[in-house]
Amino acid sequence: MPDGTQIDYNGLIPNNVGLADDQRVRKALETWHPGYIDWWKSMGPEGFQNSPVYLRTAVGVGSDNWAKFDFVRMPEYRWGILLAPAVENRVIPFGAHKGEPAWQEVPGEYRAMLRRLLVIQGDTEPASVEQQRYLGATAPSLYDLRNLFQVNVEEGRHLWAMVYLLQKYFGRDGREEAADLLKRRSGSQDSPRMLGAFNEQTPDWLSFFMFTFFTDRDGKMQLAALAQSGFDPLSRTCRFMLTEEAHHMFVGESGVQRVIQRTAEAMKAAGIDDPYDIERIRALGVIDLPTIQKKANLHFSLTLDLFGNEISTNAANAFNSGMKGRYREDKLDDDHQLLSATYPVLRPRDGLIVSEDVPALSALNMRLRDDYVEDTILGLRRWNRVLEGLGIAFRMTLPHVAFNRRIGEFSAIRADTAGALLTVEQWEKTRETMLPSVEDNLFIAGLMKPARAPGAFAGWIAPPRNGVDNRPGDFEYVRIEA
Ligand SMILES: [Fe+2]
Ligand SMILES: [Fe+2]
Repeated sequence: MPDGTQIDYNGLIPNNVGLADDQRVRKALETWHPGYIDWWKSMGPEGFQNSPVYLRTAVGVGSDNWAKFDFVRMPEYRWGILLAPAVENRVIPFGAHKGEPAWQEVPGEYRAMLRRLLVIQGDTEPASVEQQRYLGATAPSLYDLRNLFQVNVEEGRHLWAMVYLLQKYFGRDGREEAADLLKRRSGSQDSPRMLGAFNEQTPDWLSFFMFTFFTDRDGKMQLAALAQSGFDPLSRTCRFMLTEEAHHMFVGESGVQRVIQRTAEAMKAAGIDDPYDIERIRALGVIDLPTIQKKANLHFSLTLDLFGNEISTNAANAFNSGMKGRYREDKLDDDHQLLSATYPVLRPRDGLIVSEDVPALSALNMRLRDDYVEDTILGLRRWNRVLEGLGIAFRMTLPHVAFNRRIGEFSAIRADTAGALLTVEQWEKTRETMLPSVEDNLFIAGLMKPARAPGAFAGWIAPPRNGVDNRPGDFEYVRIEA
């Protein structure tokens, strides 16, 4: 066995899992490979497949200098199987088996549960690539175009990561699941992707930035919980995926921030103080702040549904079994078994939203969602600092968790962004003040004109502070004409 830090780039599939000596799994992956490339070419980015893109590729799995940047045509990207280095003598950190040696093979009694966790995580990875496939045509700069493609190839690699675990540890079942991951399609009527938010459209670049800020952050939380897993190969896989995921968070947060900055600067330059003077602001060719807020309301509420039911036996079982931990389980100071602990859950009761203590084991989805909200607020604060700095009297906020929900405690009720319960009639009357209207979306769509000269940026977004890999502002990140 390799020690897990060297990546072997000799074979068809780069890896640090010793594929050269593992004929069965290598064959399974090599059989899956052509189908993946077909999927990439037909469902991955529309156009640009022959354009060299300045992409990072992993060259190691440590935390420093793990990637190198170079021009690559996307179908030739080296998608590999990369696991974080093994931790010696690791033990199962939580649940009923806490303190026992971490599993290197799948425990029979948890096989079905683990397979399901892998398939659900795996399904989200190609889904987001499908959702984003038309965005290249309207990229606001080559810098942003490159960032989109970086996110896309890495989501492709995350699919490889889950497919490896399925094929290595689940035999024939795993191979069938791996094949099915290439068959479902985001938004399809007949065989949609498994989770709601991954069947929504990402029609414009503000949606893309909101998606990477809000929905990729759900991915980060799920990966962080799975990185704690007592099934060691899953833990190591997710730890390395989190290294890549950090860039997706950056693309989302900095993307929205640049949109906000550009709007605020344009308002100042035009002497407009009132953020709700929408017509005059839109006439400047920038997106008014209330519309940006509506987009945030939409993506936040869609993403909260990904955490599932607040009260969940599946979540309790996943924790008890040692398969899926809590966010930063290793930093938490409790018994890591939660047999007698309680946790507060928000739910509607008699026309009010109340907090009720329930057994902590059954409330793990709620807890992860709370951790997510906390993480999200940090990003919002940074956006608001831009508005503060420019003296604009508007602050981005998160809507109440009861707002616009399809899953869980609040799916049966309607609430406004402050959490006040609404009748169906009140909801219909006010929804366009809280969620993007058709007109809002048409306005945004009208701004989506590509900027393709090196160093050029569309008028609705500010340039980034720094280039990728410290490249200068006019660097040609995508050689479109090649
Ligand atoms: Fe991912
Ligand atoms: Fe991601």
